[in-house]
Amino acid sequence: MRVTVLGLGYVGLVTSACLAALEHEVIGVETDEAKLSSLSNGLVPFHEPGLSDMVATNVQAGRLRFSGDTAAATASAQIVIVAVGTHDGNGGWQTKTINDCLVSVVPHLSRDAALVVRSTLPPEFLPRLGAIVGRIRDEGDQPHIPVLLNPEFTREGQAVSDFMKPDRVVIGVADDPTGRGVKLVRRLYRQVPGPILAMSGLDAALAKLGSNLFLATRISFANELAGLCDLYGADVEQVVAAMAYDQRIGGSFFRAGIGFGGSCLPHQVTMTIKGAAASGRLTPLLAAVEEINRGQRGRFVDRIETLLGGSVKGARIALLGLTFKPETDDLRDAPSLEIAADLLARGASVVAYDPMSGAMARAAQLVPGLETAPSALAAVENADAAGLVTEWSEFLAMDWAAAGRLMRRPILVDGRNALQPLAMLDAGLSYSSFGRGTLVPDEADLNQTPRERIARRSLGLFEQPATSPLFATAQVLQD
Ligand code: UDX
Repeated sequence: MRVTVLGLGYVGLVTSACLAALEHEVIGVETDEAKLSSLSNGLVPFHEPGLSDMVATNVQAGRLRFSGDTAAATASAQIVIVAVGTHDGNGGWQTKTINDCLVSVVPHLSRDAALVVRSTLPPEFLPRLGAIVGRIRDEGDQPHIPVLLNPEFTREGQAVSDFMKPDRVVIGVADDPTGRGVKLVRRLYRQVPGPILAMSGLDAALAKLGSNLFLATRISFANELAGLCDLYGADVEQVVAAMAYDQRIGGSFFRAGIGFGGSCLPHQVTMTIKGAAASGRLTPLLAAVEEINRGQRGRFVDRIETLLGGSVKGARIALLGLTFKPETDDLRDAPSLEIAADLLARGASVVAYDPMSGAMARAAQLVPGLETAPSALAAVENADAAGLVTEWSEFLAMDWAAAGRLMRRPILVDGRNALQPLAMLDAGLSYSSFGRGTLVPDEADLNQTPRERIARRSLGLFEQPATSPLFATAQVLQD
């Protein structure tokens, strides 16, 4: 099929490349000249595994082209997909982008085309969508065009595989009285495995929103559970493993730590709370999800502070990882930025390393005073404590014993529960994570088996105000 995709950000470019890989004839339209010229030179402007190769292969095969000319690119398309951004960059919605896009594209659609919105939309915008398109169409005296939604459920870092092997494809009908539009979109995904669900536009928008809100809720639940495990001295990993066997619960998206970041989950939780409140509806569960999530970032800093004896003032703290999760260079609502700013405000000096050098440079601009290092080992050198912020595989595989020897004080707080506590203890580090307590190496440990040592997990340590340095922490563990 002939497909035109408007907007070549994360969503639009992944959609364009994947549809071309499914042997559709795709034109990707981008109005930002710098982005367009970078793509025309074969450069994908962000990090997404597998995407550069997919773009190159399909450009070479002639199935994927890029253009800055909306009118020419849409004139003969059977499906026009709108994938422009709908964030205002400040945690709010930006629907002007959609409006502007519709104004620029609708007059050029052919009579056989269907318009498909893939950008995430606020539910309150949905009832207006069909009417806006209808008005623009009537002004140009054009024939009826089906208007549909096709929300994306792709995760950054796994966007290509999520697109090619989706759990489901959702089609929302905003305006399609004859069903022609739904038929076209079904054809578009003919080669993709997984069920295709057609529903109303509002249902599709809420299905997208509901999925992200539920994922956010699971993470905040895992974090609250981890807090209880720390309070009572249990191990959240064991607890979750046992819970996950229950098929009603399952084990994915259940990892405790510094909480969720990125462009979708935090934004959608906040905007849903605000949008509902504007219409007089309270959403107390989502308010708790948001509060727990924001709190985790501060708890991470508090924990570093506790392990340093109650203050980070004058301490040098290394942060490993800056992007909001591995395999992306995205810093949008990355917990690292807030954590670094908080540590600096509490009087620490902060040095960070991330495998994505571009993200590192941007973070240094966004957080004045943040230093960066050329490698993980360079970052931890002479540090009083290190914090693992993003679980890049590079950090999971690094020589932690060597890292500990380079540090002024070998203290590691794992914000992603990504490392094995006993392995870190054996590497000579004091190690703390979420819901798995804190392990502090001690002379007395040397004659003990790992099992005996793990039994010495802290009991409620982080619920108490800290009054004494690390040695006292070790004392608490012994008592
Ligand atoms: C999300 C949705 O997963 C995706 O379906 C939607 O289309 C876009 O939004 P994304 O923002 O790319 O995708 O990231 P995701 O993998 O969902 O992770 C979001 C955040 O949650 C990350 O900061 C991650 O580190 C954190 N997370 C994830 C946890 O803290 N614990 C977990 O168990 C899983």
